[in-house]
Amino acid sequence: MRTFSIVKPDAVAAGNTGAILQALEAAGFRIVAVRMVRMTKAEAEGFYAVHRERPFFSSLTDFMSSGPAVVMALERDDAISELRRLMGATNPADAAPGTIRARFASSIEHNAIHGSDAPETAAFELGYFFPGVELS
Ligand code: RTP
Ligand code: MG
Repeated sequence: MRTFSIVKPDAVAAGNTGAILQALEAAGFRIVAVRMVRMTKAEAEGFYAVHRERPFFSSLTDFMSSGPAVVMALERDDAISELRRLMGATNPADAAPGTIRARFASSIEHNAIHGSDAPETAAFELGYFFPGVELS
C-alpha cells in the first residue's frame, strides 16, 4: 500500500531532509517516487483545499509555498497509519518521543512533515504531485 508525504519547507531549509528520509527508510518505507518542488501559493491552496475554511489556511499555504519541499510516494504495509504514527502529533509539543515531529518540528505549523490521513486523501495527494502513480 502507498501513501504520500512531504518534507516541508522548514525541514528542508534546516538541512533535515536526509535525516527524515533515513528515518522513513529505517521504519520500512520504500521511496517509490521523490521530487523536490517549490509550490506556488495556488498549488499549496489546491493541495490543502480541504482546509480552506480553517483560520490557518492563509498562513499554512504561505508557509508551504515559502521554499523548496520534497514530495514522496512511500510504500509499506499499513503505509498510511504507520506514517502517521512515525510522524507524531501535529503539534510537536504533543508528539511522542522519537517521532519525526518530536525530532524536527519547531511549531504546530512548521512541523517538518506531511502524511496523508486516509486512503482517499492519499489517492488525491499522490495524483496531485505524481500523476499516473496509483494507490495499491
Ligand atoms: P498534515 O496534513 O500536514 O500532514 O498535518 P496534520 O494532518 O497532522 O494536520 P492538519 O490538521 O491536516 O493540518 C495541516 C497543517 O496545517 C498546519 N496547522 N496549523 N496554526 C494552527 O493551528 C495549525 N493547525 C494546523 C500544520 O502545518 C499542519 O500540519
Ligand atoms: Mg492533514
